[in-house]
Amino acid sequence: MTATAVAHPNIALVKYWGKADAELALPATGSVSMGLDVFPTTTSVTLLDSQEARDGFVLNGRAVEDGALTRVEQFLDLVRQLAGSDVRAHVDSTNTVPTGAGLASSASGFAALATAAAAAYGLDLSMRDLSRLARRGSGSATRSIPGGVAVWHAGDDQGSFAETVPAPPMAMVVVTIDDGPKAIGSREAMRRTIATSPFYPAWVTSTTETVGDMLTACAAGDFTRIGELTESNALRMHATIEGAFPPIRYLNARSVAVFDAVAALRAAGTEAYATADAGPNVVVLVQPQDRVVVAAALAHLGTVIESGTGPAARLVGSEGTGTHRPVQEESAE
Ligand code: PMV
Repeated sequence: MTATAVAHPNIALVKYWGKADAELALPATGSVSMGLDVFPTTTSVTLLDSQEARDGFVLNGRAVEDGALTRVEQFLDLVRQLAGSDVRAHVDSTNTVPTGAGLASSASGFAALATAAAAAYGLDLSMRDLSRLARRGSGSATRSIPGGVAVWHAGDDQGSFAETVPAPPMAMVVVTIDDGPKAIGSREAMRRTIATSPFYPAWVTSTTETVGDMLTACAAGDFTRIGELTESNALRMHATIEGAFPPIRYLNARSVAVFDAVAALRAAGTEAYATADAGPNVVVLVQPQDRVVVAAALAHLGTVIESGTGPAARLVGSEGTGTHRPVQEESAE
């Protein structure tokens, strides 16, 4: 049995930074994101013969043996538990996001893996339950299941899922400054921030408030408010992380130059707002009609890629019941 799924990354407009429960991957606050329509991850999960002792993981054509394999095995253990199976699997994943560079590769990666693995093990999960499952692989993956603009609810295991919310048409310009792996992964950095940053409690309070404000702005179609909240929340997250000890700083001088260029665009009358995740790359939120001009204006600062709003994670094929059965695509909403 083989099932294949495609998922896209998402970029948080209101960030997730910190867990309330590490075991269940419950976030300390809610978050809101926009799914991208670029950088898809395609993942196939094939069930192996019952005597195989370990799962296999091939990423971009290369067999993976280290911690990334363990993370995939632990995730598949959850799927096996749900399915009542002890059969091992082979995972073959093609990731077009620069892995580990703070561009949400784990979001598309675990969203595609959750979707393909659930189908391969015969689980018929709702979108809500798929997003709860993806959450256990990587927090941000929760939001790559529904696509579009999505809110990921804080809550208990049942209540912490993501769903699409109404929002105005938006686009993003990704400015890649450095596509190498980041110095410190988000899991460890979140732990250190919670343990040592004196700003962390204020981050939790303010972000909880910002999620509500962001959902109101999205429902009202108020792009200016969405943009202002997005840039402010990103800078608050980075300030909180920089407050850790030893300090962690993801933004470099070139990242700051992009934030400055975006402010200059706004001063000249083009609405654009910058955000950045756990890495130096900057993503700029714009209205669809401005994406080309903003991409051109920022091209001297990094490699620019434009993106519209992305679709939900979807199964693109399943094979093994005798016939190949392409699965109908779901819409972005
Ligand atoms: O779940 P992770 O490890 O992908 O954490 C993601 C954290 C940020 O990208 C910085 C913020 C977010 O909400 O995506």
